Amino acid sequence: MLKINPLTAWRLLHGYVKLQTGDWIIQNAANSAAGRAVIQIAHALGYKTVNVVRREELIEELRSEGGDVILLDDENLRNAVKDAIGGAAIRLGLNAVGGESALRLMNCLAPGGTLVSFGAMSLQPLKIPTGLLIFKDLRFRGIWINKWYDNATPAERMAAFNPIFDMAKRRLLLTRVEKSYPLSEAKAALEHAARAQRSGKITFDLAH
Ligand SMILES: NC(=O)c1ccc[n+]([C@@H]2O[C@H](COP(=O)([O-])OP(=O)(O)OC[C@H]3O[C@@H](n4cnc5c(N)ncnc54)[C@H](OP(=O)(O)O)[C@@H]3O)[C@@H](O)[C@H]2O)c1
Repeated sequence: MLKINPLTAWRLLHGYVKLQTGDWIIQNAANSAAGRAVIQIAHALGYKTVNVVRREELIEELRSEGGDVILLDDENLRNAVKDAIGGAAIRLGLNAVGGESALRLMNCLAPGGTLVSFGAMSLQPLKIPTGLLIFKDLRFRGIWINKWYDNATPAERMAAFNPIFDMAKRRLLLTRVEKSYPLSEAKAALEHAARAQRSGKITFDLAH
């Protein structure tokens, strides 16, 4: 699984905004596999994360994985972020949800900040108020990791993989699995994978 979500997380933190130690980033769906990889990689690199989730029970869990601030994805987000990090600027937002959630992230970004979209879990399109372009000069980018991989040179690929492999050797970036199914139960597995509020991935157990 390292090639999917951890690699995406690595590129999200390296491909768009030049971050320095102590810089803040913000992300939604922070409990997703990609979000958890972002938390761990950012923590290892010395960046601080504001993690937005839609379930209160995830707050302590994500804190224990290295998340600095964990907040609920609601209309109070902007004020809650201000209360949590004071006047610090957030120059990078990572969006895996779209719709209202993405708009809430945009509103937390500093002028000139960048929102990188890589998922659309809500199936809602981005809504970008013109004022955020005119007055805040926000930038909007997207990533599809397959495309990045295809276009990257072997050296660029290894520059991303080597640190991820090192983290994995230290038992970081582990992918949580909620349930494993035999291939004979493929239909049930797909239905389960489509459910919200999972604690981890649904996998196939090829030994059975
Ligand atoms: N562009 C790329 O190259 C790339 C690479 C990797 C991943 N992705 C995308 O990144 C996203 C996350 O992937 P993942 O494998 O990390 O996911 P995952 O582990 O399966 O987690 C899914 C996440 O989405 C949230 N969610 C589900 N339905 C939602 C809804 N209707 N509104 C808001 N949030 C919702 C879940 O919240 P709850 O737990 O509260 O249900 C959970 O945080 C996916 O869209 C995936 O396609 C893209």
